[in-house]
Amino acid sequence: MKPRGVIVAGNWKMNHGAGDTEKFFGSLSAGWNKVLGESTKSALKTGALKAMIFPPALSIHTALRAAAAMNGAVRIGAQNAHWEQKGAFTGELSGPMLKEAGISHVLVGHSERRQFFGETDETVRKRTESLLEQGITVIMCIGETKNERESNQTTAILDRQLTGALPEPGKGGAKFLDGRLVIAYEPVWAIGTGLTATPAQAEEAHKHIRQHLWDRFGMEASGRTPVLYGGSVTPENMGQLLDCPNIDGGLIGGASLKPDGFLAMLETAGKM
Ligand code: PGA
Repeated sequence: MKPRGVIVAGNWKMNHGAGDTEKFFGSLSAGWNKVLGESTKSALKTGALKAMIFPPALSIHTALRAAAAMNGAVRIGAQNAHWEQKGAFTGELSGPMLKEAGISHVLVGHSERRQFFGETDETVRKRTESLLEQGITVIMCIGETKNERESNQTTAILDRQLTGALPEPGKGGAKFLDGRLVIAYEPVWAIGTGLTATPAQAEEAHKHIRQHLWDRFGMEASGRTPVLYGGSVTPENMGQLLDCPNIDGGLIGGASLKPDGFLAMLETAGKM
């Protein structure tokens, strides 16, 4: 297994209500022993390999119940959470509510939230800080648009997003980098487009992210932080992406909606 283990995380976005969630887990559980080899199953047991699903909020209970019936082999997360604990924030969910429901992982700053719902580096930082303080694992998403890549701004954008969203080292920033903060590099031009970054493009960005963390928070914190790749990951391209030394897993949208695809990606990850 890779030094930081491997994370296979499915971001369902606004797909799969309770009924489809039930069906997904029924098929996942039926295919589990057929598709997954012994080494994958044992990596899942030790936690060297982590399987996560982020369903829509309304499907969380169904997913948690199904995951519990599979002995917690799949961790269930939420797609967003507010930084305040409670109050007048119509349409939002808070960390304590999610924890009460049994959620320990939350996605923060997905590009769709930045693009369509006014998420900024500042609000990403508030959510990230608050959730980490509450003991919740955060998968923080960053990535450049097509225009930004084409005008050679990729590393500058990644630096801006990381600087804006991570608390300064002096303000306790480093204490969060104990493995509970996960970064997901998701080039916006690759999300849902079928255009995957090449392993070389992805590795270059991941290396840059790790260097940024090293420069600001030190070697240990940087080495402990998993960096996932997201953007049109499929069972077919997962292996070559995971072959890259700085890629510690995948955040997968479309291809995670089908149990067969999710199982195939877990089995590939189990062989790394
Ligand atoms: P995709 O989505 O795999 O469908 O490109 C990835 C994501 O947005 O997390």
